[in-house]
Amino acid sequence: MKFMFNKIHVRFITIQSTISYHRKMKSITLLLLSLIILSSCNRRMDLPSHQNDVISDAKLAFGSCNKLSKPQHLWDDILADSPDAFIWLGDIIYGDTEDMGVLRDKYQRQKSQPQYAQLRKQTSIYGIWDDHDYGKNDGGKSYPMKRESKAILFDFLEVPPQDQSWNREGAYQDYKLNVHDISIHLILLDERYFRDTLLRPDGIYQPNDTGTVLGETQWKWFEEMIKSSTSDLIIIGSGTQVFPEEHRFEKWANFPRERARFIQVLKTASRPILILSGDRHFGEISRFSAAGQLPVYEVTSSSLTHTYPTRNEPNKYRIGTPVTIDNYGLLHIVKYKDHLDLELMLKGEGNRILSKEIWSVPR
Ligand SMILES: [Fe+2]
Repeated sequence: MKFMFNKIHVRFITIQSTISYHRKMKSITLLLLSLIILSSCNRRMDLPSHQNDVISDAKLAFGSCNKLSKPQHLWDDILADSPDAFIWLGDIIYGDTEDMGVLRDKYQRQKSQPQYAQLRKQTSIYGIWDDHDYGKNDGGKSYPMKRESKAILFDFLEVPPQDQSWNREGAYQDYKLNVHDISIHLILLDERYFRDTLLRPDGIYQPNDTGTVLGETQWKWFEEMIKSSTSDLIIIGSGTQVFPEEHRFEKWANFPRERARFIQVLKTASRPILILSGDRHFGEISRFSAAGQLPVYEVTSSSLTHTYPTRNEPNKYRIGTPVTIDNYGLLHIVKYKDHLDLELMLKGEGNRILSKEIWSVPR
């Protein structure tokens, strides 16, 4: 608009230079009036046609892989985004211990970290663990302190004492959130407590085609959650990446049968699904499409404090820019009468957008 106004203004000055003062004044008035009308028409025309149909919007921030001994330099940016909730996707702390006093102390120090403490005051916090906060690097079902570790995690997250997730084995949870009239079903999967062992000769995980990631009880629960959900949006929080297959680190693809089951479960949903994952010290957005189905997006945000430098990691599902500096995720949901716009973002220091995709889904 600014550019257009200047163009007309220049033309106006040139035309008017030879005519009388009165005519000039009359013309000025007429031209100004025309300009005002023109500019207001154009302003209206510039708006997306659905702009007036916006019902509400919500912002959720998320992140993973947070080492207390490293600078906690992204919390101010997260605070500046004023999210309606923050979701931990694992490795909240680097516990790596069987000493529950050490684990509790590290969580407590995280809780007291000033900017994080401020975020807790400002917004709701949810989360699930990955390996380091569980207590063992790449740990699974054989970690001996898993029951005690779960209680410490739930204390840190302040999971309400009446929540039924306290009473079952494992740390999986779900929440029905209603944020500014947008309903979100948040499902947080536990991929450690029941997970079978993987073999890793020469530092490369071998596929395990018989073992489990979730365990049968959690599987049944997950299947029911997905099938029955009627929220505007389902968000699945997963410590481990779900879609990427090529890299050599921990991933759902290390359990091909389990990953195939996961994808089958996703197909039973009647609502759009967004997966949030962590763990990788690397950020990226992936999109998985199956014939006749809505695509499913996965936003991997890692790490809040120590992201690894560039690597040429292939991922056939990746869309947009891979992120190799410290990052957090921001999901901006805009609800319209007939659809949702989901702005999927990975952001860095100075509130800079490092990768962004917009997913428009019908309601
Ligand atoms: Fe991890």
